[in-house]
Amino acid sequence: MAGEESRSFRSLKELAKKSENKTCADCGAPDPDWASCSLGIFICLSCSGIHRNIPSIGKVKSLRMDHWDEAQVQFMAQHGNAEAKAIYEAHVPVYYYQPTHMDCQVLREQWIRAKYERREFKEPGKQSPFFNGMKEGNLWKRGRDNGQYLIRKFVLSERDGTLKYYVKHDAKEPKVCIKVNTLNATLQPEKIRNPNGLQLTYLKDNKTRHIFVYHEDGKEIVDWFNAIRRAQFHYLKVAFPIASDNEVKCRLTRNFLREGYMEKTGPRQTEGFRKRWFTLDHRRLMYFKDPLDAFAKGEVFLGSSDHGYDVKQGLPPGIQGNSTWHYGITIVTPDRSYLLTCENESDQQGWIATFQKIINQSMTPQECTVEAHFKHRS
Ligand SMILES: *[C@@H]1O[C@H](CO)[C@@H](O)[C@H](O)[C@H]1NC(C)=O
Ligand SMILES: *[C@@H]1O[C@H](CO)[C@@H](O)[C@H](O)[C@H]1NC(C)=O
Ligand SMILES: *[C@@H]1O[C@H](CO)[C@@H](O)[C@H](O)[C@H]1NC(C)=O
Ligand SMILES: *[C@@H]1O[C@H](CO)[C@@H](O)[C@H](O)[C@H]1NC(C)=O
Ligand SMILES: *[C@@H]1O[C@H](CO)[C@@H](O)[C@H](O)[C@H]1NC(C)=O
Ligand SMILES: *[C@@H]1O[C@H](CO)[C@@H](O)[C@H](O)[C@H]1NC(C)=O
Ligand SMILES: [Zn+2]
Repeated sequence: MAGEESRSFRSLKELAKKSENKTCADCGAPDPDWASCSLGIFICLSCSGIHRNIPSIGKVKSLRMDHWDEAQVQFMAQHGNAEAKAIYEAHVPVYYYQPTHMDCQVLREQWIRAKYERREFKEPGKQSPFFNGMKEGNLWKRGRDNGQYLIRKFVLSERDGTLKYYVKHDAKEPKVCIKVNTLNATLQPEKIRNPNGLQLTYLKDNKTRHIFVYHEDGKEIVDWFNAIRRAQFHYLKVAFPIASDNEVKCRLTRNFLREGYMEKTGPRQTEGFRKRWFTLDHRRLMYFKDPLDAFAKGEVFLGSSDHGYDVKQGLPPGIQGNSTWHYGITIVTPDRSYLLTCENESDQQGWIATFQKIINQSMTPQECTVEAHFKHRS
């Protein structure tokens, strides 16, 4: 008997290693070694934890540690990741964000709930209320100056292409009206210190403005996130009628390329180094006193090497800074050099690699216009 069991068990592990089953059915992480034995899918440890917390979608087991009986092995053999995808992801809207293993918990959990618990994608059009092109509701918004979170009414209109928020529930005029084509939304649980924290970034008079919000309910915040993506999708489809769905999808809300603390000096390089929070949004490198500041203290445009931009490891010789960190980076722009320091070598190498990738890419005509505006301002 024991021999039988180990053979079928071995065949199960063989199945898990094969192409479609080689990545987690829910987040794409490599080499999943857990399974949902009720859905017949191979998943990673992290997704198995989410499944376990939603008893209504079934039972999870470890491929390595748990006992599998013949019937369960048979069941797994008859299903698998490709089949589950064909059923539960049959009608995922193009704009709907499908998280990876790099994404935060709330995005991954709501994706799993949407697929198997609410079965939103099994049939076309079976979706939450935001799918009628309008979404209205309350979110906790961080006050710009005092950092206190207060309830604000938000209204997203796909037809107008705007996201507005109101200070009072019955206010006639919105406090802020954001055009969806200038808006970026990213889930930022760590920065906001809330598992459902959402950062909204937009351009106001060509300056980047951040708004930080959250909702107690994970579904609600992910609905907002996807509703914004839907409104942007709609806007871009109208603005670029010949673009394919996939081209448009790439231009929806996206994550920052990199964020973190570095120290920097001022333009004369004699003011001493100050610790700042840096956020890189493609060619815009912004720095803040505090990660939750509404406005950046400064923004640096990162052009391409053929326009005179460069990034070097280390600081120029003779810099007598008071920097507490020792891993230097010099960013050269046509106007001036920016001297930065990182806390450790891996951080330094990470930033340099990201900067280099951007500077190696040639600039589009639109980016040249943005560059000209930056020069004009400084
Ligand atoms: C993936 O696993 C399922 C069973 O769980 C199996 O039917 C299918 O053939 C496997 N895929 C490949 C490519 O081996
Ligand atoms: C938002 O993302 C778009 C690309 O989708 C980008 O062009 C724009 O600069 C970003 N805006 C802000 C304010 O970060
Ligand atoms: C460097 O000196 C400036 C004042 O000249 C100060 O504000 C800053 O905090 C100092 N930085 C470090 C890392 O000690
Ligand atoms: C390097 O510094 C970053 C942030 O400053 C930190 O997150 C990371 O853990 C550090 N890495 C090492 C290897 O110390
Ligand atoms: C960018 O180009 C430089 C030299 O032209 C090269 O050394 C570097 O590897 C490139 N980096 C990336 C990320 O493409
Ligand atoms: C914003 O920048 C664009 C170029 O990117 C420029 O045409 C426009 O006049 C600027 N608007 C303001 C309000 O500065
Ligand atoms: Zn996973």
